Amino acid sequence: KLGKRKVNILIMGRGSSGKTSMRSIIFDNYEPIDTRRLCATNEIETTHFPFLGHMLFNIKDCGGQDTFFNDYLSHKRRHLFHNIDVFVYLFEAKNGDEEFAKDLKQFQSLLSAICKGSPLVNVFCLIHKMDLVKPDQREKLFKDRENELINISKPAKISCYMTSIWDESLYGVWSSIVYRLMSNVHKLENTLKLFAEEMECDEVILFERATLLVVAKYVRVPPSDEKRPQRVSKTIKNFKAKLDRNKISHDLFEIKLSSNRIDFVQHQKLKSTFFKIITRQLSTTKNKW
Ligand code: GTP
Repeated sequence: KLGKRKVNILIMGRGSSGKTSMRSIIFDNYEPIDTRRLCATNEIETTHFPFLGHMLFNIKDCGGQDTFFNDYLSHKRRHLFHNIDVFVYLFEAKNGDEEFAKDLKQFQSLLSAICKGSPLVNVFCLIHKMDLVKPDQREKLFKDRENELINISKPAKISCYMTSIWDESLYGVWSSIVYRLMSNVHKLENTLKLFAEEMECDEVILFERATLLVVAKYVRVPPSDEKRPQRVSKTIKNFKAKLDRNKISHDLFEIKLSSNRIDFVQHQKLKSTFFKIITRQLSTTKNKW
């Protein structure tokens, strides 16, 4: 693991807000239904996840019970909030205004401690379990929560997302996190553009192998569905999990569209040339911090 850049990621939120579920789906190949078996996290669970060969995600999933929070903000304060690159906080969407206000207070105390110890932190707020809110109320609820969060976080800048384990939204959030961590993403996108032109295709997306998160993409013709990359992430991830469960090995996926099929064999040489370039560019990618 020598030479890998450590990316410190802190996941927080009140008890049962869905932190371990999110982590297990993105990094441990859990299916959403499996998260019902998860137990409450006792204090802090730290996991390490190698990412793109040159990064090592150091993920701290912090149990959300009130006694733990008091401990985070007192005894653990000096160590826990130091050098954090990414802070993810989960709010339960179905909570009423009173519960949300309590959560907000807790978030504010944490944010202030983190900003002191880690001035360059990237903050992501998730209005989570959105599936439990009626579809016609989701947009308004999210906008209200987002406005309030942006206001109380100032001068820190935050990004808000509405999420649920039951759709592809978590892949969207984590792909945005990865995008922020990459310093030479424009170089990669340029290579993908050249590749797309040579292959005569409308869209090229580069996914990380284990998580299927989107690392970079080039889109020549904007798709009608903006969420397609994250939908593809979720679909392939689920498919891979099923293959793994049945012990079927898989090195390469070839997705054939009924019309406009790309001749993969003919382009094999071209592909391997581009893959070499992309691999080299990824290995020289540095964290922004
Ligand atoms: P602590 O460890 O106690 O801090 O909880 P946690 O935040 O890690 O929550 P956990 O991931 O254990 O999830 C608690 C419950 O919420 C589980 O039963 C999950 O299946 C459920 N859950 C997580 N995400 C969602 C979601 O998006 N929608 C719904 N409906 N349930 C969810």
